[in-house]
Amino acid sequence: MNAPTSLRDLPQGKLFRQGDVFVLFGELFGRGYANGLINEARAAGMTIIGLTVGRREADNSLRPLNAEELAEAEARIGGKVINVPLMAGFDLDAPAGEPTPTELLSVLTLKNWQDEKLDWAQIERCREAGVARFKNSVAEVMAQLEPLVADGSNVFFAHTMAGGIPKVKVFLAIANRIYKGRGDRFMSSRALLDSDLGKLILMNFDEVTANTFQYLIDGSAALRQRLEASGGQVRYTAYGYHGTEILIDGQYQWQTYSNYTQGGAKKRLEDHARTAWQQGVKATVFNCPEIRTNSSDIFVGVELSLFPLLKALRQEAPGEWAEAQWAACHALLQDGYSIDDLLAQIEAYNTDATMLAFRDFAAWPMDNSPALAEVMIGTSDDITSKHKERSALVTDHLSALVLEGTGPLMFGEAANPAGPVLWLNHDIIAKQLAKLHG
Ligand SMILES: NC(=O)c1ccc[n+]([C@@H]2O[C@H](COP(=O)([O-])OP(=O)(O)OC[C@H]3O[C@@H](n4cnc5c(N)ncnc54)[C@H](O)[C@@H]3O)[C@@H](O)[C@H]2O)c1
Repeated sequence: MNAPTSLRDLPQGKLFRQGDVFVLFGELFGRGYANGLINEARAAGMTIIGLTVGRREADNSLRPLNAEELAEAEARIGGKVINVPLMAGFDLDAPAGEPTPTELLSVLTLKNWQDEKLDWAQIERCREAGVARFKNSVAEVMAQLEPLVADGSNVFFAHTMAGGIPKVKVFLAIANRIYKGRGDRFMSSRALLDSDLGKLILMNFDEVTANTFQYLIDGSAALRQRLEASGGQVRYTAYGYHGTEILIDGQYQWQTYSNYTQGGAKKRLEDHARTAWQQGVKATVFNCPEIRTNSSDIFVGVELSLFPLLKALRQEAPGEWAEAQWAACHALLQDGYSIDDLLAQIEAYNTDATMLAFRDFAAWPMDNSPALAEVMIGTSDDITSKHKERSALVTDHLSALVLEGTGPLMFGEAANPAGPVLWLNHDIIAKQLAKLHG
C-alpha cells in the first residue's frame, strides 16, 4: 500500500438501533476518542457495555475494580461495566516464580540502558504468560456478555486499546528526551529502537495496540456465529494512526507526527483488520487525526497538525458556525495575536524543508532527528506561549471537534464499511461537522 485509503463521502448506512449492544473494548477516559462513538451509540438507543483494564495493587498484582471504582466507571460510560481486568501486554507478567520484564528492566540506568542485553527466552515466556492471561480474561468477558445479547440483535465492538510502555523510571527519562527534548536534551528515537529496551517496548506495543484486536475478534467468534445465524450482525472498529491529510498550501496533503514509536504496532493492527476482512468479518481500522488526549499529550508537537482544521472548516462548512469556531479559538489567545498569524506560522512550519523530508508515506514511521525536534518542539512551545492559559489551548477546542466528527463517521461507516482500513482526514471531519452544525 503506497497511499492512504481515505473516506471521502459521508456514510449513509444505518444498522444499529434500540436493543443492539455497543461494547467498548478498552476503558473510557475523559477526553478519549471513544467518547465520540459512545455518543452515537447512546443516540441510537443501543445498550452500552463498558470494560476495564483493572487496577494494580502495590505488589503489581492485577485486580478488578472495587465497588466505588466500578460505580464511577459505570457512571462515566453510562452503562454496565463487565468487571474483568483486561490489562493487555506482558510487562508485568511471568510464569510463577520467575521475574517479569519490568523486573528485568530494573537494572537499567541512564548510563547503561543502550548496552544492557535482555534474556529473550525469558521475555518470550513472559509474553506467553501475558497473552494467556489476556485471552482467558477475554473468554470470561464473552461469557458474561453472552446473556446480555438477544438473538437477532446487532453488536458493535469498539476497540480503543493502545499503549504498552513499561513502568520503569529510566524509560520516563528517555521518553522525555525523545518526545520533548531538543538541543542538548535531544535523543534519537533510533537509539531507543536499536536497544534491547526498545525492542521489548515494541513487542509490548504489538500486544497492547494490535494483537488485542485479533484476540477480540477470535474471542467473540461464538457470539458472532450465534448472532449471524439468528439474523443479527457484528461489527468491529479500531482506532488507528497512520498520518492524516490536512490543508497545506491550499490542498489536503498527507503528513505525520514523527517519531511515532507505535507505528509498527498500528500497521499490524491494520493487518489484523485485513485478515479478518478476508475471512468475511467486518473489522475496520479507522486511521484518525492527531488530537490531544491523556495518551497523546507526551508527544510535544503532535497537536500542530490540528490548526489547519480551522481552514478546512471554512472550506467545507462555510458560514456562521465555522466563524464561531474561529472566534472561540481567537478568544483563547493573548491580546495581540490572531488566528491568521498562527495559521501563517503553521503553514511556514508545514512547508519547511525539514518537515517536507518527513512527509514520506512509504517510509512511515520515520525516526526523529535533531532538526525535526528543533522546528517541531520549538513551534509547539512558541504557539503554546501565545495562549492566555496553558490549560485552555486552541488544540483543546479543535481536539473536541475532531472527536465529535469521528463519532458519526465511524458509527455510520461501520454499518456498511467500505474496507478494512480507512483514513478520516480533515476534509471529511469538516464535512461531518458541517452536517452536524448546519
Ligand atoms: N490521540 C491521538 O492523537 C490519536 C490519533 C489516532 C488514533 N488514536 C487512537 O485512539 C485510541 C484511543 O486513544 P486516545 O488518544 O483517545 O486515548 P485514551 O487514553 O483515552 O485511550 C487509550 C485506551 O487504551 C487503553 N489502554 C492503555 N494501556 C492499556 C493496556 N496496557 N491494556 C489495555 N488497554 C490499555 C485505555 O484503557 C484506553 O481505553 C488509541 O487506539 C489511540 O492510538 C489516537
